[in-house]
Amino acid sequence: LDNPETDPFEVAKEAADRIAELTGVERHDVALTLGSGWGKAADLLGETVAEIPATEVVGFSAPAVAGHVGSLRSIRLANGKHALVIGARTHYYEGHGVRRVVHSVRTAAATGASVMVLTNGAGGIRETWTPGTPVLISDHINLTGDSPLEGATFVDLTDLYASRLRDAARAVAPELDEGVYVQFRGPQYETPAEVQMAKTIGGHIVGMSTALEAIAARQAGMEILGFSLITNLAAGIQKTPLSHAEVIEAGKNAEARIGDLLAKVVGSL
Ligand code: 6GU
Repeated sequence: LDNPETDPFEVAKEAADRIAELTGVERHDVALTLGSGWGKAADLLGETVAEIPATEVVGFSAPAVAGHVGSLRSIRLANGKHALVIGARTHYYEGHGVRRVVHSVRTAAATGASVMVLTNGAGGIRETWTPGTPVLISDHINLTGDSPLEGATFVDLTDLYASRLRDAARAVAPELDEGVYVQFRGPQYETPAEVQMAKTIGGHIVGMSTALEAIAARQAGMEILGFSLITNLAAGIQKTPLSHAEVIEAGKNAEARIGDLLAKVVGSL
């Protein structure tokens, strides 16, 4: 993937073939990337058919951050459909390039998945949100300055986070809040001034993932459903300093509740 001569879609196809071989599942219908706090959903979705280390599949690498897992799981849902759960996310801030960041999404598309569920742990800008609140992503602002699209590839991002899927989520959980996700490069958290900027330009949630992946998923023709777990309020909104430990802790406390929510939503699609 690091070689510009390499076609990233061919690597994704190779990865998808390997997943089919190792899991024994020829085709997946839906894929989920589980971010901080969302890991528990995998256990609640259905029956695990196979679990494989991400390092067995071309283009995937071991997780760089504590609190992130490194496996791929094939799960049979109650309705007989197959879900591919991606517990291995490469973040843009790791500096391995955007191709590596979106490789899991392109692989998911190559396995046959038509729905991509992207989840993350993120900072909240709205004061009324408390740690542990799940928020449906309605749209995003990509502040990374980068794109997974190469060359003159003009992709429409209208209704990127599909209203069809958001309606389905709200049918399961009518009280769900919605917000615009702002992807910063990271890995430092934002300054209070940057958080104010994000708010001014229409953002409600700040994080370090998801937007680049959503763009690649749209390019691949998938429908996208996005969820953030508010693990803390963003800098300057919350009066105390931010810490990664606090992010992990909020995730642990919310895990069962939001896992159940996600399993119900995916089961209803
Ligand atoms: Cl406040 N910012 C970013 N960029 N990512 C986060 C976060 C904040 N809290 C959890 N993840």
